[in-house]
Amino acid sequence: MAKCPADFDFFAPEVIESPFEFYQVLREQAPVYLLPGTNIYLLSRLDDIRQAAKDTETFSSDFRYLLQGPEPSPAAAEIYKDGYDQVDTLLTMDPPRHKVYRSLINKVFSARRVAKMQDYMEQIADELIDNIIDKGECEFVRDFATPLPVYVIADQLGVPRADLRKIKAWSDAFASRLGGMVTPEAEIENAHLIVEYQQYMVSIIRDRRAQPRDDMISDLANTTIEDGRLMTLEELLSMIQQLLVAGNETTTSAIAGGLLSLIQLSDQLQVLLDDPAIIDNAVEEILRLETPSAGLWRVVTRDTRIRGVAIPAGSLLMLRYAAGNRDASVFSQPEVMDVCRANAEDHLAFGQGTHFCPGAMLARKEMQVAFRALLQRLTNIRLVEGKNDLTHWPNVVLRGLKSLHITFEARV
Ligand code: HEM
Repeated sequence: MAKCPADFDFFAPEVIESPFEFYQVLREQAPVYLLPGTNIYLLSRLDDIRQAAKDTETFSSDFRYLLQGPEPSPAAAEIYKDGYDQVDTLLTMDPPRHKVYRSLINKVFSARRVAKMQDYMEQIADELIDNIIDKGECEFVRDFATPLPVYVIADQLGVPRADLRKIKAWSDAFASRLGGMVTPEAEIENAHLIVEYQQYMVSIIRDRRAQPRDDMISDLANTTIEDGRLMTLEELLSMIQQLLVAGNETTTSAIAGGLLSLIQLSDQLQVLLDDPAIIDNAVEEILRLETPSAGLWRVVTRDTRIRGVAIPAGSLLMLRYAAGNRDASVFSQPEVMDVCRANAEDHLAFGQGTHFCPGAMLARKEMQVAFRALLQRLTNIRLVEGKNDLTHWPNVVLRGLKSLHITFEARV
């Protein structure tokens, strides 16, 4: 018998792990779906998501309380006392105020800055491959897909490489709070990491205010906003935190998931080896299928309807980008990877409208550089038998492979 939406539990680990059948059932039977027992409506068709993302008055991004999760436990609250207040800036802010911060980010993420980074990204990708090439085997998430975006964003921000290990830990702590199901122990651990992040960054911000350099933190810390004031420490911490979290987890997941698909689909890999110029389009197809930011929240500000379904004010809407990106009315044979797909870049992996990802240009370039370097230097890339369970982090917002053990040979 055909399945219906009620046959799936959105929050069940097996559905989080493998949600694609659920998405298809939703798109076909209930494109505006109220998750049973909640006030959350899931949108799964690409056009509906596009429209809703543009209507910031009805669908607000003020979902900060969701990121904070439940009230911190007394033990975690005690730890947060040593840190700084968390304030809204980009992701959880609506127009017109959102624009104050967004125009700053657009300035520091200029096309000129990203274009200048290509050689340097290639150098990092090569260094990472140098570290593994003679071993013939690696855990790809740890050894390549994670460090590449972390090195790039840390260098751009102006955080010393010696502190990169910490950046990854901080970024994980924020990401786990964003959509993870945290245990009490993890909550305490996250609180320590978040306060540590705040104290560390405040010392860097103070340093860059005293002695500006050519890096993003100097630009952010010394540029004035609205009535000519500098941003507060809390505002700066929030902006830098978003650059760290948004940039790392997502790009790592796209690179790792993309490589796994290419290993599993040797015909697609062969197309890229025959014509490396297709790599840029392959990156779009990978983003479409992986959609590392699988869904984002919106808060419904007034009674409204989508496709005739009444949605009361106060409900939550989830723009399920990962479901929209497999919409058969937009992409033919949507479950199939086709690196030559003509409309691959119609995907919504970077969102839409006001909050469209400001790091999209950077992430695309990182992925293009990564796949070009990997395919140029490695051959016969395979999964290590018996070592891979190919599972993803249990997170309803961010989707990413936990690990990927591969073997390969150096291309001669
Ligand atoms: C493959 C990699 C990436 C993916 C899939 C991705 C995805 C997204 C999506 C879907 C949004 C929109 C959120 C919404 O609808 O509310 C977003 C926003 C954002 N992204 Fe990315 N992102 C990626 C890489 C990056 C990078 C490299 C950076 C920066 C270093 C970055 C920084 C941001 C920031 C700051 C926002 C908030 C923008 C705003 O609210 O105006 N992202 N990203």
